[in-house]
Amino acid sequence: MQLDINGLTPAAFLAQYWQKKPLVIRQGFKHFQDLVSPEELAGLAMDELVESRRVYQQAGQWHAEFGPFDSYEKLGERDWTLIVQALNNWLPDAEALIQCFDFIPRWRFDDVMVSYATPGGGVGPHIDLYDVFICQGSGRRRWRVGDRGPHREFAAHPALLHTEAFEPIIDTELLPGDILYIPPGFPHDGITLEESLSFSVGYRTASAKDMVSALADHLSEHDLGAQQIEDPDRQLSSRSGCVDKADLARLRTQLTQVLNDDLVSEFSGRYLTQSKCALDLPDEPLDITQNEVLAWLDEQPLIRLGGLRCLYFEISLERGIVFINGERYQLPAELADVIPLLCDGNLLSKAVLAPWLNNAEFRAQLTEWVNLGYWYFDDLSDGEDE
Ligand code: SIN
Ligand code: CO
Repeated sequence: MQLDINGLTPAAFLAQYWQKKPLVIRQGFKHFQDLVSPEELAGLAMDELVESRRVYQQAGQWHAEFGPFDSYEKLGERDWTLIVQALNNWLPDAEALIQCFDFIPRWRFDDVMVSYATPGGGVGPHIDLYDVFICQGSGRRRWRVGDRGPHREFAAHPALLHTEAFEPIIDTELLPGDILYIPPGFPHDGITLEESLSFSVGYRTASAKDMVSALADHLSEHDLGAQQIEDPDRQLSSRSGCVDKADLARLRTQLTQVLNDDLVSEFSGRYLTQSKCALDLPDEPLDITQNEVLAWLDEQPLIRLGGLRCLYFEISLERGIVFINGERYQLPAELADVIPLLCDGNLLSKAVLAPWLNNAEFRAQLTEWVNLGYWYFDDLSDGEDE
């Protein structure tokens, strides 16, 4: 699968469009194949671990319902849409689509959302907080995108935040293989012209409010940031009720000095690798031995679980620190070079792992991850038969 951004290099796209303005990408994917069929999607939406919702209009009223769903009969032939979040957590093939956008790092990536819509279907005009590449699969869909501005938002239904009618700066029909990039803040509305599937590669950021609140939990959990304000250089005060500028600076320093690169990376590594949606993990850790892992690696690569978030920081890589699924792992420093293999790509073959496989700690750690379901072999039966 290869992405062509209207002939732009990814660097030019980032400079001109990313977070700045929407872009219609014609035939971003040649011969785009749907990642799922409507029937497979309906099957996924029956699973209670899979986050799904459907949105429809009836007699001019908007409705939104949350899955799992086992029947669509009441919805008829028109004016409804079924949305499944985090398709990539359940469908390994979605990885190839995400990889096309890997010029943006994975910590910014959120999920691949799929939407199946019948003619007239859509979720209504709204504004998102996130960047999204809406990749059109089968069918045609008309998209209108307005400019950023003071658009009034209102609840068209308790679970649907809509925006008032807007003047379009883009009004276009997407055909299979076309992509619409929309940065945060631009109102948009997609109405399906014929039965349609679209695959939205979405990116997330985080508000300072949410991060500070999670940071507070991190500080108390790890007993950090306990130092008190000190003021041995205090100057004489003549206004006992006043917090003067020097004291305000002390208060700010008290808050900011805790936020050094080590703390920010230790906290954010855990925070950013937490998964919002369920992962396809085993109920109980598996019981695979190191020798089995090694034997199966002869036959097939390990595949990183779809939706598993893992990352490392430039500043702590050489210390062997890696964050996976909300946890921090400290590998021996001599294993630091294996970390980019875990986080930058989704396959671990015996050939790429070879330099580390004779390290007992690495074998044990890899086996632990395999038993947690973080990396898996596609065909375990093959390995067992060998
Ligand atoms: C959809 O695919 O139906 C909605 C996508 C969006 O506008 O965010
Ligand atoms: Co949207």
